[in-house]
Amino acid sequence: MGGLSMNEAFVQAPEHRPKPTVVEASGIPVIDLSPLLAGDGVDALAAEVGAASRDWGFFVVVGHGVPAETVARAAEAQRAFFALPAEGKEAVRRSEAEPLGYYASEHTKNVRDWKEVFDLVPRKPHVALADGQLVFDNKWPQDVPGFRESLEEYDAAMEDLAFKLLELIARSLNLRPDRLHGFFKDQTTFIRLNHYPPCPSPDLALGVGRHKDAGALTILYQDDTGGLDVRRRSDGEWVRVKPVPNSFIINVGDLIQVWSNDRYESAEHRVSVNSAKERFSMPYFFNPASYTMVEPLEELVSEENPARYDAYNWGEFFSTRKNSNFKKLDVENVQI
Ligand code: SIN
Ligand code: FE2
Repeated sequence: MGGLSMNEAFVQAPEHRPKPTVVEASGIPVIDLSPLLAGDGVDALAAEVGAASRDWGFFVVVGHGVPAETVARAAEAQRAFFALPAEGKEAVRRSEAEPLGYYASEHTKNVRDWKEVFDLVPRKPHVALADGQLVFDNKWPQDVPGFRESLEEYDAAMEDLAFKLLELIARSLNLRPDRLHGFFKDQTTFIRLNHYPPCPSPDLALGVGRHKDAGALTILYQDDTGGLDVRRRSDGEWVRVKPVPNSFIINVGDLIQVWSNDRYESAEHRVSVNSAKERFSMPYFFNPASYTMVEPLEELVSEENPARYDAYNWGEFFSTRKNSNFKKLDVENVQI
């Protein structure tokens, strides 16, 4: 059970409880990135990515070039970590002063999430959250052989893919291919390992409550259990993202919504749990430097299409999670 036991802290308000029937085969686009790796058909690919980012805020990528063994090694390290006895997890528990590591008390919009988590920033000794004021170190579990190496390898593969996706997004907005790269010279990117144990009340609780991702791009690995639900823009219905072997799920976060001046929209999503099977997922949150001032890109602002957001400092937002811009987006308690 991963140490969780059901109580009222996990219970969602009736209107937010998952309905038993969620539409499968939802229509979320599946995009084959192999033309990009072959250096061919890039414009058509950028158009596909643009349409998916506009209509869904979510898409699935295959043919992405990340070696299956790299993913398998990271997923194996993740499973081994969550299978540790409680003392093994306690040894790397996060604290207020050291917020990377293990915890099982995440809340989304004040309701507890049915999951346990490990946060890390591989290959980077620390992450500076607000202009160098807050510097955090990784906590590496000692009892999982190869943990650090496999996550570092995974992180390197994710970074390559993230820059490719950033280029496709820039192209899709008719911008220079490297227009967004400069924001990511220094990064506040991190990886989260999620474990959702079987839940005795999947009709009352959620693995993660509804939310939007505050950063730029999320690249998500999920196992074959399924449970990620996306709010479909066309009718507001929650639809399940079907697990596709050797794929990643990509979603554009609030930063791309702001940079694109609302051409692309960060979509609401949540995680449903089930009583039979545990689920593992691994999001890579691709986030810019803490000193980034985020505002609609000047190329996408004009007299007819004025800026829809005031500029804000990413690091300040990241550390306080407060931003008046986002009231209108209904993101009072975002996951970052
Ligand atoms: C999240 O959105 O925070 C988690 C996604 C997942 O586990 O599928
Ligand atoms: Fe999310």
